[in-house]
Amino acid sequence: MKEKLTFLGIETSCDETAAAVVREKADGTGEILSNIVSSQIEEHKEFGGVVPEIAARAHVEKIEFIINKALKESGLSFNNIDGISATAGPGLIVCLTVGLNAGKAIAGSLQKPFVAVNHLEGHALSPKINKKIKFPYLLLLISGGHTQFLEVNGVNSYKRLGTTIDDALGEAFDKTAKLLGIEFPGGAKIEEWAKKGDENYFKLPKPILNTGGCNLSFSGLKTAVLKISKKLKNQSEKYHLASSFQKTINEILYNKTKVAMDEYLKNKKNKQKYFVIAGGVASNLSIRENLNNLAKEKKFTSIFPPVNLCSDNAAMIAWAGIERFKMNLTNNLEFPSKARWPLDSSAPFLKGPGLKF
Ligand code: KG4
Ligand code: ZN
Repeated sequence: MKEKLTFLGIETSCDETAAAVVREKADGTGEILSNIVSSQIEEHKEFGGVVPEIAARAHVEKIEFIINKALKESGLSFNNIDGISATAGPGLIVCLTVGLNAGKAIAGSLQKPFVAVNHLEGHALSPKINKKIKFPYLLLLISGGHTQFLEVNGVNSYKRLGTTIDDALGEAFDKTAKLLGIEFPGGAKIEEWAKKGDENYFKLPKPILNTGGCNLSFSGLKTAVLKISKKLKNQSEKYHLASSFQKTINEILYNKTKVAMDEYLKNKKNKQKYFVIAGGVASNLSIRENLNNLAKEKKFTSIFPPVNLCSDNAAMIAWAGIERFKMNLTNNLEFPSKARWPLDSSAPFLKGPGLKF
């Protein structure tokens, strides 16, 4: 095996068409030689959310260009690449298939190793690209599609401590934004509006705050926001609602993260206290400050990967490919795309009506 591995990573699980080339460095971290992300925000704006068929068509139109661009920017040719990794799930099947097939075709024609990557493992290992951290660590993943607390024990070794039982956190932000008349995806705008409002103006519910361990729920909060949004009288009240919503989210995250930290520490082997926060919502500064304060209180070191590695990207997929390849976890070209693919297969499926805590 060559000492320094270079992988091409491909990501098309949702509405970002992405390709990247990452090279392993001698110190065990990674050098990002290129990281191309083409977002489809414009394509989905008028629909207020991601439309799978439109997303898939956009992936098909862009994928070849994006892969070539990633290769060109890296200054390498296909011959210099040691392996190809592509996201195989979880996500929208029609979207996943585009990147997965492209990756398989390149690997097959060049006769290079192929690694099918779980998108969540991409996020889970992403802090290791530019920081030398050892396993285990606690991860909070907060994105438009996922909200989970994970104990990251190693490559291919995860314990899910908690998950949302309904909406993802980014989804809750986007739905609130939509009710306030903000274009999709409105998470960042909610943060902006929240600064102009009074966070104590509206009292909002915090579902399953003191039950269900570190599982989370946001749908009751969404219903409350919906009711209030119908009665708003002016722009100031919209700011107040954005502010009150964000404050409520911060209170929920504070409480649930505390529970997750305690659960993580219950396992005696978890002596190392690193807390990694990833996903698009982790770019919210008030959430960062809130979780940083909690980490300090609980004597955890908080780690926020840079925003371009936090939100969906292919560098994290290339990196997961390198880490898996080093453990001989390669795949054949028959590997299917998977809409659902939990990182911790022993964790129960916690979604849908009728769940009680
Ligand atoms: O990880 P990400 O880029 O993509 C996927 O979910 O796949 O996350 C996007 C989500 C969206 O829901 C977006 O509204 C939310 O992250 N987001 C934010 C902020 N920036 C992005 N939510 C709250 N505050 C922000 N500053
Ligand atoms: Zn993601």
